[in-house]
Amino acid sequence: MTELPPALSLDGRVALVTGASRGIGRAIATTLAARGATIAVNYARNEDAAREVCEAIASAGGKAIPMGFDVADEAAVDAGIKSVVAELGGLHVLVNNAGMSVDSLLLRAKGEDLRRILAVNLEGAFNCCRAAARHLLKARAQGRIINVSSVVGETGNPGQAMYASSKAGLLGLTKSLAQELATRGVTVNAVTPGFIATDMTDAALQGDARDKLLAKIPLGHIGEAADVAEAVAYLASPAAAYVTGHVLRVNGGLAM
Ligand SMILES: NC(=O)c1ccc[n+]([C@@H]2O[C@H](COP(=O)([O-])OP(=O)(O)OC[C@H]3O[C@@H](n4cnc5c(N)ncnc54)[C@H](OP(=O)(O)O)[C@@H]3O)[C@@H](O)[C@H]2O)c1
Repeated sequence: MTELPPALSLDGRVALVTGASRGIGRAIATTLAARGATIAVNYARNEDAAREVCEAIASAGGKAIPMGFDVADEAAVDAGIKSVVAELGGLHVLVNNAGMSVDSLLLRAKGEDLRRILAVNLEGAFNCCRAAARHLLKARAQGRIINVSSVVGETGNPGQAMYASSKAGLLGLTKSLAQELATRGVTVNAVTPGFIATDMTDAALQGDARDKLLAKIPLGHIGEAADVAEAVAYLASPAAAYVTGHVLRVNGGLAM
């Protein structure tokens, strides 16, 4: 793999990235692999896309396996994480990236959508943290959990009360586990991306809405999945050994 300063290298580490078949998760998986980590590429439905991510990693000289499970399904998460450890020999880094959104104003919001958003975005991360914790503790002072929250978890957003609640919840989860796991050498941090061009934001980032949003972003452009991946790679690296409970904003200055 590429020569990297030791503080940024992930050689010898195994990372599970949830929701890595597309978008931000795919960029995180390929970036961590380029830093030397072996990757479990989680997906919910798109097995072909996850296999394609693994092939891209292998063609670049890395190693990755696809690992399908629904993060909202506690039993499936437990079984999936056991398989990761059995197939890859351990687990050192967990990136809770899997997420979904249904946007709706309060009066039109449906309880079933709220329950599913919380089940995937918040409970899904919780399930993965709990199932992974035992193995991360074995990483000997270098276990890492990184939660992908969102700018709207910090600021709120009209029409996104359900999604923003799940992402704000992730920040509480991050800070609680950072305190709980610190004595065992596991760091727990969050990234809060702003608006990033992916399938999730495709419809919202068109026409007038795009122009209005751009006017609010000091750096003047929509973010790329790679911008988030770089922040996650830093938090996963030895360079971030003394960083825990932190919320790293990757939002072009949209919220400070
Ligand atoms: N895009 C943005 O502007 C933005 C901003 C802030 C935060 N975020 C957060 O960043 C994360 C990634 O977003 P994205 O924009 O890359 O989304 P995306 O393009 O819609 O991709 C979502 C990924 O999550 C997976 N996934 C969905 N539900 C899952 C489940 N129940 N179990 C396992 N995997 C599941 C999908 O797998 P399949 O392919 O199998 O469906 C896919 O890999 C999300 O947590 C999102 O909330 C995104």
